[in-house]
Amino acid sequence: MSDAFKAFVVDKTTDGVVGTVKTLTLADLPEGEVLVAVAASTLNYKDGLVAQGLGNLVKTYPHVPGVDFAGTVMSSTSPDYKPGDAVILTGWRVGEIHWGGYAQRAQVQADWLVPLPPELSPRQAMAVGTAGLTAMLCVMALEDGGVTPDKGPILVTGATGGVGSVSVAILSRLGYEVVAMTGKDSEHAYLKELGATSIIDRAELSEPSNKPLERETWAGVVDGVGGVPLARALAQMKYNGVIASCGLAASAKLDTTVIPFLLRGVKLIGIDSVMKPKPDRMKAWARIAKDLPLEKLEAIASDHSLDEIPELAKQILTGKTRGRIVIDVNR
Ligand SMILES: NC(=O)c1ccc[n+]([C@@H]2O[C@H](COP(=O)([O-])OP(=O)(O)OC[C@H]3O[C@@H](n4cnc5c(N)ncnc54)[C@H](OP(=O)(O)O)[C@@H]3O)[C@@H](O)[C@H]2O)c1
Repeated sequence: MSDAFKAFVVDKTTDGVVGTVKTLTLADLPEGEVLVAVAASTLNYKDGLVAQGLGNLVKTYPHVPGVDFAGTVMSSTSPDYKPGDAVILTGWRVGEIHWGGYAQRAQVQADWLVPLPPELSPRQAMAVGTAGLTAMLCVMALEDGGVTPDKGPILVTGATGGVGSVSVAILSRLGYEVVAMTGKDSEHAYLKELGATSIIDRAELSEPSNKPLERETWAGVVDGVGGVPLARALAQMKYNGVIASCGLAASAKLDTTVIPFLLRGVKLIGIDSVMKPKPDRMKAWARIAKDLPLEKLEAIASDHSLDEIPELAKQILTGKTRGRIVIDVNR
């Protein structure tokens, strides 16, 4: 059997960082314990940065991006995996400092993998991907903080994005009242279909306010945007409310006061999916298999080929994509 396989490779050229689909062989792969036949990968915001040579995330070129992949083990020197096992990889800086999933083959450390839950196909796992895993971790943080559906509405910011879309679908399935914040007028029907109870325009929460406390509105927040919307949501929390903060699509800055913490007992919880320990990941994937309705996942996902990555990367960095982008590496 030929060792050759297809990969989307980014390299530094005189025109800057350029990505093209190339043919590689197994000898080109970095060392690792487990060789995986990749079925699918995804495009996350971070992949957009790497594909465009932005963010200083890649240290050495040529490089294969793709922070997520799912596929089948071909060979393994680790006792944890054997040929034929279905696996998922998200995080661990794969696709940034290690070669990633934009290839038909990947070679990685066994500890970075988790078994694919039997309820999900590799494509469905990638329709979830890092963004969906992060969404589930955010929902679990709200639950851990005591936010139950009877406590009041949950605000989801960046709602048509990957984290936002999956959060809306899961929270709605769990019986929460979900208020989706979006900047896209054209996507209200999409958000309602995912289970949003109501929608607020991004502009409403994008004006800074100098009031340390506003009307108590949210029992919980899943925030993927940071900046002014996060500061406004913080001032609008109900007593004992919980915010899961995972992203910075608006800004990495947070200009606020400690008053919501002192007078309303608000909790601001940081969510990181990249270095999350394996037992927590497995718990989150089990919850995804149970609590994310697969028909809603279909509405969230769209399928694309390796050739489409440069254009899609531009779109995700300008907030123009919707939901989750699955990359079928065998297309
Ligand atoms: N902590 C972690 O482990 C982790 C994991 C995954 C992702 N993230 C981060 O979480 C964020 C969301 O990731 P994603 O994959 O969902 O990205 P995404 O698909 O690009 O979604 C981001 C969404 O944010 C909204 N948005 C864009 N620009 C905005 C602006 N200037 N102000 C307010 N909202 C804006 C848009 O939604 P609307 O048009 O609907 O408003 C956009 O679709 C990113 O910052 C990403 O880096 C963190």
